Amino acid sequence: MRIPMIAANWKMHKNISEAVQFIDQYAELLNAAQLETVICPAFPLLAAVGEACRRHGLRLGAQNMYWETAGAFTGEVSPLMLKDLQVDYVIIGHSERRRLFGETDQQVARKIKAACQHEIIPILCVGETLEQRQAQQTLGVISEQVTTALAGLDPSQVRKIVIAYEPVWAIGSGLAATAADADAVAAQVRKIIGEQFNLKTAQDVRILYGGSVNRDNIAEFMQAAEIDGALVGGASLDASVFAAIVNTAAEVSFA
Ligand code: 13P
Repeated sequence: MRIPMIAANWKMHKNISEAVQFIDQYAELLNAAQLETVICPAFPLLAAVGEACRRHGLRLGAQNMYWETAGAFTGEVSPLMLKDLQVDYVIIGHSERRRLFGETDQQVARKIKAACQHEIIPILCVGETLEQRQAQQTLGVISEQVTTALAGLDPSQVRKIVIAYEPVWAIGSGLAATAADADAVAAQVRKIIGEQFNLKTAQDVRILYGGSVNRDNIAEFMQAAEIDGALVGGASLDASVFAAIVNTAAEVSFA
């Protein structure tokens, strides 16, 4: 069975004391121990947030990573450094990285491979832009992003990966995809992985939806057959809102 997951992508928000306060406050409000919760803060917060997460049984994620283990790569952070901080997950290929920092599918693939090699579970983000959606290119774009990112991996590595479908137009816009549309894309992702690897692998991969998820729409996404959770941006910044999302998600998943 795929364990449902809700991940918080804090992006470039919070300082150390705000972050630790959030975790303690959130943990008090939580009644959903069975569901996996991952907090992904900015790099400078990883150590403090990691310690707080471990106190409360939450998982820790980073928002990016370079593929080399060490060397002259000013400003980059290596898989070994994340391992040293006991990071469990790493977001790879977020649309903000692709759009604002020029990350390509090939670079995303190298990062995914490095994460798998170092046993950090990648949360691979894929999603179409508004123009691509309007041109009916959604499934083609998603197929290309997934196939390139996973090329050369073993099924045993792929089955542990988390894929987040985040339509670019839905991020931070207040305009979420419908659960039916997101479910159809998730089904397509499984189809591609089934063809690229095998059916068992396709069934094991967890697929999240991301893009304007909030406490009011989380239930519909959790009810969708192919969707196993959510990657939450803006609504993950407030402890009581995020706890409401996770508690609702758990109620739906374990009803
Ligand atoms: P919002 O939830 O703010 O739309 O952001 C989604 C996102 O980018 C998560 O990675």
